[in-house]
Amino acid sequence: MRQFPIFFAVQDRPVLIAGGGEAAVRKLRLLLKAGARVTVVAPDANDEILDLVEAGDVDWQARPLVAEDLAGAALAYGATGIDAVDRQVSDAARKAGVPVNVVDRPELSDFITPAIIERDAITVAVSSGGTAPVLARGVKAAIERLLHPNLGRLALFAERFRGAVKAVVPAGRARLRFWDKFFDGPIAARVLAGDEAGAAEDMLSYVNRRGRAEDGIVHIVGAGPGAADLMTLRGQRLLEQADVIVHDRLIGDGILDLARRDADRIDVGKTPGHHPVPQDKINDILIAQARQGKRVVRLKGGDPFVFGRGGEELQALTAAGIRAEVVPGITAATACAAATGIPLTHRGHASAVTFVTGHKGDGDAPDVDWAALAHSGATLAIYMGVGGAARLSGDLSRHGLADTPVAVIENGTRPEQRVFTGRVHGLDALVRANGITGPALIVIGDVAALAGVVPADVRQVPLAAAV
Ligand SMILES: C[S@@+](CC[C@H](N)C(=O)[O-])C[C@H]1O[C@@H](n2cnc3c(N)ncnc32)[C@H](O)[C@@H]1O
Repeated sequence: MRQFPIFFAVQDRPVLIAGGGEAAVRKLRLLLKAGARVTVVAPDANDEILDLVEAGDVDWQARPLVAEDLAGAALAYGATGIDAVDRQVSDAARKAGVPVNVVDRPELSDFITPAIIERDAITVAVSSGGTAPVLARGVKAAIERLLHPNLGRLALFAERFRGAVKAVVPAGRARLRFWDKFFDGPIAARVLAGDEAGAAEDMLSYVNRRGRAEDGIVHIVGAGPGAADLMTLRGQRLLEQADVIVHDRLIGDGILDLARRDADRIDVGKTPGHHPVPQDKINDILIAQARQGKRVVRLKGGDPFVFGRGGEELQALTAAGIRAEVVPGITAATACAAATGIPLTHRGHASAVTFVTGHKGDGDAPDVDWAALAHSGATLAIYMGVGGAARLSGDLSRHGLADTPVAVIENGTRPEQRVFTGRVHGLDALVRANGITGPALIVIGDVAALAGVVPADVRQVPLAAAV
């Protein structure tokens, strides 16, 4: 560590900036945000400084710096960009015992201004000690992505209740546990989601219960088509905070790795006997876990509301009085389309797209009007259609689509992705000849002829940016 990290109080204290250009303005903006009383000393000042002077926010001395300017200053900045003058600022400040920073001159500085990430009351400072500012910027960007945009609001929300909590929860471990549970719990999640009024009601009852048995919450989260970086940031954050994750079979390891190590994981995709857990049993699990006050993530492939049975789960939870929220995910159709270069709508070729199932849970033919779909001219994105490829091909061929292009995308966006193209009349043969067994999407329409394969290294972008 090259510098000692501290946050320095400058509220209502005098700070001196020597220099009237862009470098000075950058420091000035930050100092004003922190409530400092800033004096700029420089023969010339740029328009932004002049505006601030006119608004009465900054004092400007239109002359070169003299040693007396430093008397009583809490901090000083040299931002003239002129070597001899910046040196003079540094010498004078050090002589006066005022901590000084000269822009981009660590040898003339007592402190640096770090890269900062701000969420209202929460500030994170990043420094490479002057060794690699670009690397520090990369770290800042990575932290920006990690921190919820409403984190500062959460800090302010907690501050509102500090007095009330102090009054009812004894100091020490009990109070620590109270706040731990709060920040990790559903009330904090509600604040982060932007529902402060609802969260305030929950908080009052939580305080009255002195932190006992908070109500749980279920987030029904779409994990996307498989690649971890195709999941939303909101989904990732909820996964990181969850106590329990109830997930489907096809959720990739890369995604489950985002969960807390001590979070319980319940795989409802299959039981030891390899039978999937029935839907009503899944609903019961979600309700039971939430009733224990846990933060539950129900993690589903793709989007929860596209052939994902998310609607049934939401209804069951609501009927049981459990708070539930849905986080969308990238559905297989849009993911497979992007990964193979098939535009689902395409000017002059396809002006509509229909997501349709080729399978009904009980194994019967789905209740779909294929004749109407065949005549609609829409691109058909068929989920769960591979098992019924022969029937599908027959139905659509009979209604005039025999020669329409088809693309079958297996394991779309995953490293093992495969893409096959042909015509509707040959769909069944295409599926059989290539032994398609993984999850696959069938795209039917002129646009299917545009299928190409996007290389795996383009599809798989690592989650954390390289810093
Ligand atoms: C039960 S549905 C779930 C759909 C999911 N909710 C979604 O929005 O993508 C499962 C079907 O989605 C399609 N599917 C899901 N992931 C896929 C992938 N990575 N590649 C191709 N098709 C996929 C397949 O048709 C699979 O049979």
